[in-house]
Amino acid sequence: MKNQHLQDRPHLPENYLLLLEKHPRESWEDNPEMPIFILQWLENHALYRRLSRSLVKETQKFLNKEHSAQDYAQRLGFFGAQLVENLTRHHHFEDEQFFPTISTAEPRVKKGVELLISDHAALTKALEKFVIAGNEIIDLALQEDPKTHAKATAILAQASALKAFLTSHLNDEENLIIPILLHHKLAD
Ligand SMILES: [Fe+2]
Ligand SMILES: [Fe+2]
Repeated sequence: MKNQHLQDRPHLPENYLLLLEKHPRESWEDNPEMPIFILQWLENHALYRRLSRSLVKETQKFLNKEHSAQDYAQRLGFFGAQLVENLTRHHHFEDEQFFPTISTAEPRVKKGVELLISDHAALTKALEKFVIAGNEIIDLALQEDPKTHAKATAILAQASALKAFLTSHLNDEENLIIPILLHHKLAD
């Protein structure tokens, strides 16, 4: 079987998206049966998408000389910490509470849910590597070390890859989870 891990799949396999045809994305916004807590969950996803975009954007701005090294260090530290702290808490909630409820309600997607949980482990590793590289660059930037620029070029690739992984995971997760909630009328 082809590797289905996050970095190697274009999207979740079709058999994990059994109910998406019945409840396509375009119908979610106006669906009166959308549980309230899912609106908050989607807001959280939107925040993570924004934060991962900010890491890329702020690095590009530093490389384009639109930010000083000190300014860049502060922004990278702020957006990086926000993403790591919030996403870690979010994954914990999904792994421990939310996803087991989904697997019980719809056992046909148990394997898909397991794949999402394995994505969390892959994302945690990517975040850990990013934190190490981010802390190095913040130290260099605060000392106005000339190596900051070369390090920023390297971290731009890392931030872009992290953004792509995260975006793919969030899209897959929403496509799998929300149709199940709507189909089984799982409320708050
Ligand atoms: Fe997730
Ligand atoms: Fe999530």
